[in-house]
Amino acid sequence: MKFFIAGNWKMNMTKKEAEAFVCELKPLVADCNNKVVLCVPFTDIECVKNAAEGSNIAVGAQNVHFEEKGAYTGEVSADMLLEAGAEYVIIGHSERRQYFGETDETVAKRAAAALRKGLKPIICIGETLAEREKGNTHKVLTRQIKEGFKLISRADFMNVVVAYEPVWAIGTGKTATADEANNTIAYIREVLGEIFGDTSETYVLYGGSMNEKNAEQLLNMPFINGGLIGGASLIPQKFSIIAHVKRYA
Ligand code: PGA
Repeated sequence: MKFFIAGNWKMNMTKKEAEAFVCELKPLVADCNNKVVLCVPFTDIECVKNAAEGSNIAVGAQNVHFEEKGAYTGEVSADMLLEAGAEYVIIGHSERRQYFGETDETVAKRAAAALRKGLKPIICIGETLAEREKGNTHKVLTRQIKEGFKLISRADFMNVVVAYEPVWAIGTGKTATADEANNTIAYIREVLGEIFGDTSETYVLYGGSMNEKNAEQLLNMPFINGGLIGGASLIPQKFSIIAHVKRYA
């Protein structure tokens, strides 16, 4: 199975910057066998999609509203994202949970809305430092899965990508050790497995200060098969190194 390497640009890159980035990245990843996705701000989706034409780079958004249309000022629907060129959408990122009132309930509704339209969700889960220190990591992850994934059918689950992002590792330079990340992802697969059955074909990504130096080791852990990359996805050369990681022979 290929690795799933997704960049999360967060609130970075104007259209012009995005276009220049893709022009630089395209030749760098032309020979790469992994799945490469850029999750970009709404305003960049169309131009990234166009700039990436003829390449192996897919495009994702960073949020989607759960209603189809209507009086929801500031929100964007699945149809809008699809028409702009998005194939994936990040849902429930910890920054959305922390700063914008995202809950397991809204994650569940957004994921269902995306899947209904054929937009593939990348659903983020992860514990905070306080939760980890209290020994609640498994409890928190179980709740996030049981609640956040509750509207997803077994059939739809094959279009879902899961990202484990310990909140204390995001943008902090503190990566979970490869063993920590792997053990927690093994647990996540167990919980998902109880609900959806076999997860051997499911992408479960690690995210949180993944970079061009630690990616190879993290991605080669048995339960991890991809990465969600913030900071290091903003520099084409760094992102390209991660996109080229291969399984140890
Ligand atoms: P980071 O962000 O790689 O900058 O830690 C990851 C993420 O938030 O998805």
